[in-house]
Amino acid sequence: MSTGYSLFVIFGTLGSLLAFALILWLNRNVNNPGKTTGHVYDGIEEYDNPMPAWWFWGFMLSIVFALGYLIYYPGLGNFPGLSGWTQIGQLEEQQAEAEALYGPVFAQYRDMPIDELAEHQAAMRMGRRLFLNHCSQCHGTAGTGSRGYPNLTDDHWQWGGEAEQIRTTISEGRQASMPPWLSQLREDGIMQVTEYVLQLAGREVEERIANAGRSQYEQYCAACHGASGTGQVALGAPDLTDDVWLYGGNREAIASVIRDGREGEMPAFERRLGEDRAHILSAYVRSLTH
Ligand code: HEC
Ligand code: HEC
Repeated sequence: MSTGYSLFVIFGTLGSLLAFALILWLNRNVNNPGKTTGHVYDGIEEYDNPMPAWWFWGFMLSIVFALGYLIYYPGLGNFPGLSGWTQIGQLEEQQAEAEALYGPVFAQYRDMPIDELAEHQAAMRMGRRLFLNHCSQCHGTAGTGSRGYPNLTDDHWQWGGEAEQIRTTISEGRQASMPPWLSQLREDGIMQVTEYVLQLAGREVEERIANAGRSQYEQYCAACHGASGTGQVALGAPDLTDDVWLYGGNREAIASVIRDGREGEMPAFERRLGEDRAHILSAYVRSLTH
């Protein structure tokens, strides 16, 4: 918080407390005790009595309590409070408690190789729960994915399907980078190279247009997607010859990827979940295909 804003909060808070106390104090006595105020409503009159003492002192005590609270806990702008309590600190403490309780449940599988673990039923029930909590919002509850989010149950892997490759994907995340080509290729070039990509995928195409796209493919695309279009795991460049499309397989969807580029990102999970959970999740993802 900036110093100015911090001061605003401090003065605002203390000022209001002071104002409350002042109003209470100034109203503790009344002008005509025992008489009515003169207000009449439907024959009901109001006595001009002071606030009951217990109420007055109750209010005063709560103001004193508020002051004590604001000194002990953080509340006054940037002043951290004398206790040293923070939300993050409390969260970390609770997480440490939970880790001490549940950590060993996950740690028991630490030394089991991923592919062996993928056959272990109890561990895979755990893997399924972890997957539902941390992965299903993007990859779907069954892991079948959707547009832009890969299907994890088929045997097509952008970043590699071996146990260790999957483990790396989950632990460290992946950042794909497919550049946009509109400025180099223009609409005409995009159309031609799209036709060539469709030909690579074994679709019926207009030969003449696909042939025109071929030289562009060799010049601009082969470095990542490979001369024959089968992709490159190290770059996450997908295989263009199969019938699996991350962003859709019709002509317009493919042209749109080539025109505008794509930067699919798989987040890194090891720091968030710890090694043991990442290990179990890797086995779970393996179990989805095998
Ligand atoms: C915020 C969305 C999001 C979440 C949450 C997420 N992923 Fe992903 N994941 C992606 C995207 C997007 C990709 C594709 C990245 C790309 O375009 O290359 C991906 C890719 C992958 C891949 C690589 C697929 C391949 O073909 O190589 C695996 C494996 C994977 N995710 C597993 C997981 C697991 C396990 C979890 C849970 C711990 C998870 N993901 C959580 C978005 C997500
Ligand atoms: C720098 C490497 C690189 C170059 C060069 C490159 N691509 Fe890509 N391409 C990728 C990556 C990485 C992805 C995956 C993007 C993602 O996951 O978000 C991709 C995705 C695609 C897709 C979508 C595939 C799907 O499954 O939906 C198509 C189509 C494609 N590229 C075609 C081309 C064409 C045509 C060219 C040349 C004009 C080209 N790429 C050049 C890296 C590259």
